[in-house]
Amino acid sequence: MSQFVSSAVSFSSSKYPDSLSSALYKGQLPLAQMLSSRLPWLGNRVVAAQPHFHVACQLFCNDLRMFSKEEPGPSVQITSKEVFDREEKYGAHNYHPLPAALCRGKGVFMWDVEGKKYYDFLSAYSSVNQGHCHPKIVSALKQQAEVLTLTSRAFYSDVLGEYEEFITRLFGYDKVLPMNTGVEGGETACKLARKWGYAKKQIPKNQAKIVFVEGNFWGRTLSAISSSTDPSSYEGFGPFMPGFVIIPYNNLEALDEALKDPTVCAFMVEPIQGEAGVVVPDHGYLHGVRELCSKYQVLWIADEIQTGLGRTGKRLAVDHENVRPDILILGKALSGGVFPVSM
Ligand SMILES: Cc1ncc(COP(=O)(O)O)c(C=O)c1O
Repeated sequence: MSQFVSSAVSFSSSKYPDSLSSALYKGQLPLAQMLSSRLPWLGNRVVAAQPHFHVACQLFCNDLRMFSKEEPGPSVQITSKEVFDREEKYGAHNYHPLPAALCRGKGVFMWDVEGKKYYDFLSAYSSVNQGHCHPKIVSALKQQAEVLTLTSRAFYSDVLGEYEEFITRLFGYDKVLPMNTGVEGGETACKLARKWGYAKKQIPKNQAKIVFVEGNFWGRTLSAISSSTDPSSYEGFGPFMPGFVIIPYNNLEALDEALKDPTVCAFMVEPIQGEAGVVVPDHGYLHGVRELCSKYQVLWIADEIQTGLGRTGKRLAVDHENVRPDILILGKALSGGVFPVSM
């Protein structure tokens, strides 16, 4: 930041004639003092830069405001309309955002580029269950980023095992495989289930099936859309992944029928559906799923990317019926929205 301030100052001195600088100088001391007290890290630089500091402050006050604790505001002067138009022009039209041009978040609040304050009831589809820019999470991210950002899996790292131990103990599972996005978590669960089906259930090679339910959503990769019943997800993207079977949600009879097929290795389901609306199954459904999967030697994969980590009032949505899936997928809020992490 000190570099940033210095360059702002030198910009001001080259652009503005001395007379203007000295005119501005007359009114700048209170501002400099205010900045010194609000932003102690500026320290002597404020005083040293005084002859041209007011100009610099005028030019960069919005940027400085970003670092002030009190007044959230935009980092650059841009209108909402300009934000919308720029994305429309340069971005792929694969999404239809709501018309709010956001530039800052804190806790449950967000601000748009005009400084309008919003309650965030969406929480980035549950990615920021902990609130925007949670100080502990942001601090952990910064601390690690200053030490080591990437090792690749070619080597061991001193923190990966620590995370693996913590998370497996927390949820009571044997092993964890970290991924980045939720959809990768789903892909990994499907691969794991297929491999298990061939190795343990003796399913003939390349014939393993996975059962899904209508209205499911687990992402937009080719595998994920191959199990989708939403034409806006799959239309125009075929051919699709073979070996996916789709049955109605919240229907134990249909599940019982589907699992009789000995080539089925897994049943993947959201305990509460998200994208299809908020579809809560009958009480007892999850219990029934557990019983049927055990009965037919089929792995139950619970997609808790949307519902996990406190979203429904319990740590996991399956906790409402005290049942445990064989494979649990988590994502989104797992990293508090600062970095894509899933498992
Ligand atoms: C239930 C569920 N599973 C999986 C995903 C995919 O997660 P990601 O967007 O991180 O790939 C989503 C995304 O919204 C989801 O709602």
